[in-house]
Amino acid sequence: MKEDLERIRTEALAALDTYDSEADVEQLRVRLLGRKGELTSLVRRLREVEPNERPTVGAHLNQIKDELEQRISQALDALRRGERERRVAAERIDVTQPGSHRIPGHLHPLTQTMEDIVDTFVGMGFEVADGPDIEDEYHNFTALNIPRDHPARDMQDTFFVTDEHVLRTHTSPVQIRVMESRRPPLRVVVPGAAYRIDSDNTHSPMFHQVEGFMVDERVTFGDLKGVLSEAMQRLFGRDTRVRFRASYFPFTEPSAEVDIGCVLCAGCDQQCRMCKGSGWLEILGAGLIDPNVFEAVGYDPEAVSGFAFGMGLERITMLRYQINDIRLFYANDVRFLRQF
Ligand code: FA5
Repeated sequence: MKEDLERIRTEALAALDTYDSEADVEQLRVRLLGRKGELTSLVRRLREVEPNERPTVGAHLNQIKDELEQRISQALDALRRGERERRVAAERIDVTQPGSHRIPGHLHPLTQTMEDIVDTFVGMGFEVADGPDIEDEYHNFTALNIPRDHPARDMQDTFFVTDEHVLRTHTSPVQIRVMESRRPPLRVVVPGAAYRIDSDNTHSPMFHQVEGFMVDERVTFGDLKGVLSEAMQRLFGRDTRVRFRASYFPFTEPSAEVDIGCVLCAGCDQQCRMCKGSGWLEILGAGLIDPNVFEAVGYDPEAVSGFAFGMGLERITMLRYQINDIRLFYANDVRFLRQF
């Protein structure tokens, strides 16, 4: 029996040294100490031992049983602790690490500029309106004092959808639509697409304009100059110089082209590739709304007056970011778009 005990002890301790899973250790425990376990059956066989040796053998058996119980439970503890530590290490999160980064994309440079322009005018008390891209000739031309024989109606500039409908060639017809449905005072900006048969590196068949107009009693050219100068300075910087040159549009009288001081050379470079040495960049068309336009919408030109302006969004964005080809806006090349 003594030899059996020693053998069991040696084998069990050796096994415990090699086991690295809880299940193995648990199996060993059952094999030794379970109801039919090897040590348990030795306890039963104690009866066969000579009575005078029984106390010594019994004590020895108990001692080994206690030792193995203790070693098994230590081994189980160690394995469980190891497992827990491995799990904690695997699940550890370093909250100081930067998160995984997804490039969320951003607004198209034209949209950014459009929003800046609209925000500028909204900040000055203007509201936003829109109108249809497919317009009837009346709203696109006639009501804007552009008579039938005016060159702006030329088939070469205008996309005709039907005999009477065109892709609007500018955002000005929205002036008519708003004035037809509302009474002054009005302060409105109209961002939107426009279409012309026109294509080179500064002209695109589809482009965008921001129209603006104000109608009230006694609106003067001074109001137009004040509003546009302030808006240009908010958009291009406080130092921006603004100049008004006499011009012509059928729907405004008097009319003006508005220039800003060159954003690249500020007038200091005779060779400047942006302003070609003139020091000025043409930025928009404007004027006091023609009395014929007020008559077309049923306003009394003696009682109200107003100004209107319209600017090309692509042109302004090209000046802002010094882009030399309008087609880049529409090529969907992410290498271009990611720069903004
Ligand atoms: C007009 O369209 C007038 N409706 C603007 C206006 C409104 C004047 C209210 C007075 C009062 P114009 O044809 O000049 O004006 O066009 C205005 C701007 O649109 C141009 O300066 C240019 O920047 C832009 N533009 C015109 N055609 C194109 C095109 N094909 N591609 C890109 N931009 C264009």
